[in-house]
Amino acid sequence: MHELDAPQRRALADAALALLEHLYRRDAVAPLHTPAPNTLVEAMRAAPPEAPGDVETVLQQLQAAAETGWNKRVGGDLAYVPSGGLYSGAVAALLAAGLNVFTGSAFETPALVALEEGVLQWFARLLGLPRETEGLLLSGGSLANQSAVVCARERGDFDPARSVAYLSARAHHSLHKALHLAGIAPAQVRALACDDQGRIDLADLHARLAADRAAGARPWLLVGTAGSTDTGSVDALAALAALAAQHGLWLHVDAAYGGAFALTERGRTLLDGIACADSVTLDAHKGLLLPFGVAALLVRHPGALARAHRGRGDYLRDVPALPGLPNYFERGPELSRPFRGLLVWLPLQLHGVAAFRAALDRSLDLARSAHARLAALPALELPLAPALSIVVLRARAGDAATQALLDALNASGELHVSSTTLDGRVTIRLAFLHPRTSAAQIDAVERIARATLGGERA
Ligand SMILES: Cc1ncc(COP(=O)(O)O)c(C=O)c1O
Repeated sequence: MHELDAPQRRALADAALALLEHLYRRDAVAPLHTPAPNTLVEAMRAAPPEAPGDVETVLQQLQAAAETGWNKRVGGDLAYVPSGGLYSGAVAALLAAGLNVFTGSAFETPALVALEEGVLQWFARLLGLPRETEGLLLSGGSLANQSAVVCARERGDFDPARSVAYLSARAHHSLHKALHLAGIAPAQVRALACDDQGRIDLADLHARLAADRAAGARPWLLVGTAGSTDTGSVDALAALAALAAQHGLWLHVDAAYGGAFALTERGRTLLDGIACADSVTLDAHKGLLLPFGVAALLVRHPGALARAHRGRGDYLRDVPALPGLPNYFERGPELSRPFRGLLVWLPLQLHGVAAFRAALDRSLDLARSAHARLAALPALELPLAPALSIVVLRARAGDAATQALLDALNASGELHVSSTTLDGRVTIRLAFLHPRTSAAQIDAVERIARATLGGERA
């Protein structure tokens, strides 16, 4: 039966924690990448057995699968936007599932919904948003962006035929998905040019707004990015906020990657203006180093989330409204949902805010150091200085050489890096965010770049 007695519960939990312990210890010596054999991939696809399996065999199978692929618990993880995967966050996820509380409404578990509200209000204060700001924890920045776009669409003056959205040509692709899901036609979306810092080109924005108004269109939504995925660039948010106010635009700031840097002094300076946003996305599984699956959406207008996610069911007639505590199912797309608040709350309680601030400051320092060291290599070209913690580089010799360097970095067994195209050229990104990343990774990039492209320091 699936009902376990106390010794069985203990044995299962011990075995699971032993597996995690094995993986965490193995990380330091394991290869950064281990190919997954086809036989294993096929075995993992198999349908579940009719009869019970024993714990040891089942966890051995899981371990075999978990020991393949890219190892994401090490400092060499510089690809895409790394998730720190803090162990305390993993334990919080276990506790959240173990408690199995329903946090979709407040009345079943008011104290735990209050915990989640505390987390959301802490995020809002961190960004300087006003007290009345409402929030929601979702699975990631993509869903937060989606709900934000729907909030904007539900504002009274949206006109399906004439309203126009403006976003950077380098905005995250989830925003295009969000606009599509919200029923906004591609002809009503303007992808704005970027300046030499990778930020929205304000002259282009001015020109498009004027042209659209002259053509009878209605400017509606402006999306700023605080930490673009490609380069970590932060749009001039204060200028965007001023334009949004002038033209009556809803300003959404996608701070999925950059938002947590508000904990640092340098980050706060860069994010100036974010406090004026109508809505903000902030991923806790990026800058706050938590395991995948938790992001915040903050909306400054009370009731906007509820209007965007309205719906009714007679079976919900017994759910009361508690004063001061929200029913999250009324604010978002989910009814049943994991207790995400705990994933943020527990690590913050255990490590303290200062530890997160220090980790983010360290990532900013590493990016600056990497930029300075790599810019000194004559074979490399670094098209922009890092605003946050992403460094971009390419070979002066062209795309083929850049691709060769990318392949060499990923084949080294020391690094996992990813790339993008910038100015029409293949460009390597180094994303410094993982708490275990150190100067050792910068040493490795420099050594491999010299070996692959040749050239001494300038
Ligand atoms: C700027 C930005 N926005 C949105 C997202 C999407 O976030 P998620 O992967 O959590 O859905 C990302 C992911 O990297 C991002 O960098």
